[in-house]
Amino acid sequence: MSEFLKENQNLVIRSARTEDAVELNEFYRNIILETDHFGYEVDEFQITDEQQEYTINMFNQADNAILLVATLDDKIVGDLSFRAGASRKFQHVGEFGIQVLKDYWNLGIGKELIKCLINWAKENETIYKISLRVRADNQNAIHLYKTLGFMEEGILKGEMNCNGILYDLIYMGIVVD
Ligand SMILES: CC(C)(COP(=O)(O)OP(=O)(O)OC[C@H]1O[C@@H](n2cnc3c(N)ncnc32)[C@H](O)[C@@H]1OP(=O)(O)O)[C@@H](O)C(=O)NCCC(=O)NCCS
Repeated sequence: MSEFLKENQNLVIRSARTEDAVELNEFYRNIILETDHFGYEVDEFQITDEQQEYTINMFNQADNAILLVATLDDKIVGDLSFRAGASRKFQHVGEFGIQVLKDYWNLGIGKELIKCLINWAKENETIYKISLRVRADNQNAIHLYKTLGFMEEGILKGEMNCNGILYDLIYMGIVVD
């Protein structure tokens, strides 16, 4: 754990609650403006607060999915969502997405979110493997994933189109069984 997090007792990592819906939507809108690595562009993010509430409920009711938020002094500064497959053939594997507000990068919040996911997955009887896709030039994210034991499994050529430029994604995974 980083020195910052050791000293800051106010960082909490917990499952999202329905009452987080409005703040979570605001958080995603800020993330979209701050980074090119989120899956949506700003005008595409049309999720209403009611839909976000519904999504949070879905995560909380599912056995093989989890939506975590990191709060610092009760403000959402990071989130992580993981969902395994719906069918029996794929319910043991899933991918996650993670984002932290730029002002809070490099403080160890991303690492704590992923450690929480790995611990949850180890306790979960169904989950065997956690995977992710990351843009090949996202050096801090790749460094973080490797630090936590994720291995590169392949390159997905030209998978992400950011303003007309095609980027390769790296597929990474960790077995948690
Ligand atoms: C990726 C992201 C979630 C990381 O969150 P974070 O809270 O900053 O992560 P941490 O502080 O736990 O770890 C960051 C690590 O990257 C390292 N790092 C920072 N810049 C780096 C660089 N240019 N090259 C390599 N490593 C770098 C930090 O030193 C730290 O490693 P350390 O703990 O060994 O010192 C955050 O940067 C983010 O939200 N980015 C935008 C969205 C995104 O890219 N999501 C992932 C999509 S796959």
